[in-house]
Amino acid sequence: MDKQDVIIIGAGASGLMCAATAAYRGRKVLILDHANKAGKKILMSGGGRCNFTNMDAAPKHFLSDNPHFCISALRRYTPQDFVDLVDRHSLDYVEKAPGQLFCEHSAKDLLSILMTEVEWSGAQLQLNTHVQQIEYLSDGILVTTNQGQFECESLVVATGGLSIPTMGASGFGYELAEQVGHHVLPMRASLVPITLQPERKEQLSALSGIACEIRASAHNAQFEEPMLFTHRGVSGPAILQITNFWQPGEALQIHLAPNLTLESLNQARDQQAKKTIESVLANELPKRLVELMKTELPWLEQKLAQVSNEQLDSLIHYLSHFDIAPNGTEGYRTAEVTLGGVDTKEVSSKTFESQKQKGLYFIGEVLDVTGWLGGYNFQWAWSSGFAAGQYV
Ligand code: FDA
Repeated sequence: MDKQDVIIIGAGASGLMCAATAAYRGRKVLILDHANKAGKKILMSGGGRCNFTNMDAAPKHFLSDNPHFCISALRRYTPQDFVDLVDRHSLDYVEKAPGQLFCEHSAKDLLSILMTEVEWSGAQLQLNTHVQQIEYLSDGILVTTNQGQFECESLVVATGGLSIPTMGASGFGYELAEQVGHHVLPMRASLVPITLQPERKEQLSALSGIACEIRASAHNAQFEEPMLFTHRGVSGPAILQITNFWQPGEALQIHLAPNLTLESLNQARDQQAKKTIESVLANELPKRLVELMKTELPWLEQKLAQVSNEQLDSLIHYLSHFDIAPNGTEGYRTAEVTLGGVDTKEVSSKTFESQKQKGLYFIGEVLDVTGWLGGYNFQWAWSSGFAAGQYV
């Protein structure tokens, strides 16, 4: 029987970080993954360039039923700590938006750094390994797989969320948690495109491929970023962000061209009376969208001088309540993350050990901690993986 100090299930972002951290401490570490390659989500993330952290990452950027849980780990392993790591490996990266760091060339470069760290630390990786059974013994944990049996002192669940099942995602971590009595909070696909009701989808299909600046609001959250019309519905940063807060069936407010106000329209009417209102709109919105608006508000062809106060009011109302008729989301097939998961009230925020089962640890996305779009989710994987790696 192969005896390990630590077995980590899941060779994704958090599992690789935890493995290297623990093995550098001298622990004998084995990572098991059922996929044929480690870090598949790292490779596909950020459009293939991986938005690997956000320099502004703070607890307020994470959603959880237990909002204080993430504070300690984020403090103990910060975005700067991760940047120091990639700097030691001379990774080329760029800040694409404030705080958002992406690989300059390819996410492969980042995965290769993590694999190098795993190799240098002495942790072992075994792919194509399906865990069949876990038994908690008096002096350890027995893991039975299709590749044989392994015994360990500490078992780390780093199996991630449910999104992109074709990349190896599974509900295994949640099942394992429930087996030892953990509460798993309701889950749903998030950071995900929104689908539209059939009639509206048909109307908006002409806009597929265009993007515009919007303010998306739901509950108390709002994001001012671009929205992208797709052939299935709407996507883009503003839409992905709001799905962390909005659920199908709830109110979702879309404000087109949020910089355009009644005051600025009034001013344009005073100063550029001969211009048509559609030409003013075209400064803020893509032409195809203005064309669609004209089918609903035909008077947009008029000169500003001829437009009444009521019409300007109705235009502002139209822009600030743009009806996309949301239907649902594209679900786990395209979602970046899973909201909900293993209830953190039953996990130590210091060590990440389960309070239900000695020697069992949960890290990364399997926990009920979900970041905003923009590199926060990988930072959670690094911070939680590092924190647990110091104790397993
Ligand atoms: P992760 O999913 O990385 O790893 C889980 C591992 O467990 C996988 O290797 C899987 O094969 C393995 N596994 C699952 N079940 C198993 C089982 N039963 N037995 C054995 N192994 C099992 N975040 C961000 O901050 N910036 C970004 O740019 C992006 N972009 C992005 C794009 C897309 C398309 C997606 C889907 C996601 C993102 N994310 C992101 C989110 C980010 O990828 C995610 O939050 C982290 O990868 C989570 O890290 P984990 O280690 O928890 O799981």
